[in-house]
Amino acid sequence: MSTQSPNESTLQNPKEVAGRAAAQLVKSGMTVGLGTGSTVYFTLVALAERMRDEGLELRCIPTSVDTEVKAREMGIPLVGLHEVDRIDLTIDGADEADHGFRLTKGGGGALLREKVVAFMSARMAVVMTPNKLVERLGKTFALPVEVVPFAASLVERRLIELGAEVQLRMGASDEAYVTDNSNHILDATFAQGIEDPIAIEKALAEVPGMVESGLFIGLATEIYMGKPDGTCEILTR
Ligand code: A5P
Repeated sequence: MSTQSPNESTLQNPKEVAGRAAAQLVKSGMTVGLGTGSTVYFTLVALAERMRDEGLELRCIPTSVDTEVKAREMGIPLVGLHEVDRIDLTIDGADEADHGFRLTKGGGGALLREKVVAFMSARMAVVMTPNKLVERLGKTFALPVEVVPFAASLVERRLIELGAEVQLRMGASDEAYVTDNSNHILDATFAQGIEDPIAIEKALAEVPGMVESGLFIGLATEIYMGKPDGTCEILTR
């Protein structure tokens, strides 16, 4: 027989708390961007429940093949990016967020489509746990940079000049990880974190073959931080 202390029995999964809380932002008729990852997964679950229980009507744009598959399984209606000219709200996870609502994303490799969808969105709600709120980006997580495979060495050299240590992300069976867009990812570690995210973003944008970085600047409008006690702290820009 297993026993559970009263505290353990009342603890909730903070990712689920955040994911479900942000799903309440969705109103019937909205076009919604669906992020990628283990936190936004709970947003998908909550949206599917709301469709069933409240008759919520929505159309969604997935940011990865992974999310597309999950959303389809849950019966969430999906449309292509070309079918919309504006997205009302995107809900997505993050690897880190700073107090200026700047993010690092791409731990799951979906940064490019995530950034395209966030860019088209009037609002972007980030779902995460409080430990991801940092003073400086890049200290707890390497910065993912999606590159055209042909140009990987060029982008790597530029990242090293910018002060990073660089690793090609590996996938299964000792081969380079391949994104949904058939590209590779360089994970860039900055020993002291990223002092000036805007400068890094600009410098990277000048390198041909650099497709997109995992720095999200000026895109997030609110941050939902779930806690084990079941409460969710919300920061609004
Ligand atoms: C996917 O590429 C990422 O940007 C995710 O959104 C991010 O890594 C957060 O994922 P979790 O919610 O699983 O931590």
